[in-house]
Amino acid sequence: MPPFTTSAPGVRPPSFRFRCIACSDLGDLAAQNFRCSHCGDLLEIVYPSFKDAVPHEANLKSIWTSTWKDRRLSQSSIDQSGVWRFRELLPSLDNNDQAITLREGNTPLYDLPQCARITGVTRLFAKHQGLNPTGSFKDAGMTVAATFARLAGFRWVACASTGNTSASMAAYAARGGMRSLVLVPEGKISWSKLSQSLDYGAVTCQLRTDFDGCLRLLQELVLRAPVYQLNSINPFRLEGQKTLALELLEQLDWQPPDHIIVPGGNLGNSSAIGKALLEMRELGLIPRLPKLSVIQAEGANALVRTLREAGGKCLVNVQAETRATAIRIGNPASWRKAVLVLEATGGACEQVSEVAIAQAKAEIGAEGIGCEPASAVTLAGLKKLVKQGFVKPEESVVLVLTGNLLKDPDFTMEFHRGDLFKDGVDEKASSALSPLRHPPIILDATLDAVIRTLEQAEKGQAEKS
Ligand code: F0G
Repeated sequence: MPPFTTSAPGVRPPSFRFRCIACSDLGDLAAQNFRCSHCGDLLEIVYPSFKDAVPHEANLKSIWTSTWKDRRLSQSSIDQSGVWRFRELLPSLDNNDQAITLREGNTPLYDLPQCARITGVTRLFAKHQGLNPTGSFKDAGMTVAATFARLAGFRWVACASTGNTSASMAAYAARGGMRSLVLVPEGKISWSKLSQSLDYGAVTCQLRTDFDGCLRLLQELVLRAPVYQLNSINPFRLEGQKTLALELLEQLDWQPPDHIIVPGGNLGNSSAIGKALLEMRELGLIPRLPKLSVIQAEGANALVRTLREAGGKCLVNVQAETRATAIRIGNPASWRKAVLVLEATGGACEQVSEVAIAQAKAEIGAEGIGCEPASAVTLAGLKKLVKQGFVKPEESVVLVLTGNLLKDPDFTMEFHRGDLFKDGVDEKASSALSPLRHPPIILDATLDAVIRTLEQAEKGQAEKS
């Protein structure tokens, strides 16, 4: 079989190159596993044109930022995308119709006054990526990577997933007229996410292994079959995910917050946000870097251990276990990229318990926002970082909420019914969470019963306050 490349001759735009993150080898083509042909490490996309842009940074900022704003009013699909709106910082297309877009991005930045009070900081915000078309941050990367998959002439795209990547990939493949192959760990992803890829027409395989096993298999598959891999090892994904940070800074009028806090699983998203921050500083779009911190579940803490036990030099992989299934990953592919951005921005890396995750999720829900468990690690982590003095009360903090509340209804139902930690090691510790639980109440269909319930709820509220 001939060696596959990820870019067909003649379609690769000249605006970017692939660079190995370890040996810095530069190339115009990437192998199908997106690994360096010399040392085997991951590739990133770099833009030689930035060098020419930097001397003009005074004008650049005003021209680009006003162009990006103006595009919001345009009727063209590429301008309405909250990703392609920022296309000056993305691999370029020959024409705008090439983009496969579901109008992703354009997600809100909410303030979180109650959570701010709970954690002891005054300025706390949530960038809610769960309000993307398929309900997670993956869409921002998928629009770019799926577009380049189609430009390179691939008929099949594939991913290993804990559920959100697969939902997103299946949707963008369907929009772009490609077939998709999903590899997910059997019994370890939520039905909501699985049902999405079914509806979008993916060939969905539930493999008897964990996420890490699925990803290992995919890496072998892409070397044997003409399928294009859409995991975050694919650097085009990370380019799209960079726009989260661009849009956030636009929403903050280009004034960087002191801290950005993001959940860590396979570590693509933290790497993408960090890359965006570094590029924005290089181009003079922001005067200083926020600290980017990564939070993991205690049971899936490979990066935490990599930093603490190996000084970030080699990966300490773990057998992952957490109810935050989106981040149930023990062998994160982008660990080296994440270490680099943590070092460059001066961020922290922490782990949080299952009980702390459930509590934080309920607290975010109580603000009328809601998110999936993996996203809630950010608030749980912030509490720790404030206690440690790493985040100061007067500093501004942005939590990246990565997935929608509706992505994992089983978790939410079990929490409110009091079943989440039943008969487990955390049962005792979780009893303190009772005030946050709002179980459904089954009643006779009488006015009396409803009024009595209302009165009891009012009384309970008065006792709490
Ligand atoms: N939050 C959610 C909701 C996720 O789905 C994921 C990853 C993460 C956080 C972690 O992001 O991997 O870039 O560090 N989900 C992947 C998936 C692995 O297959 O859907 P990361």
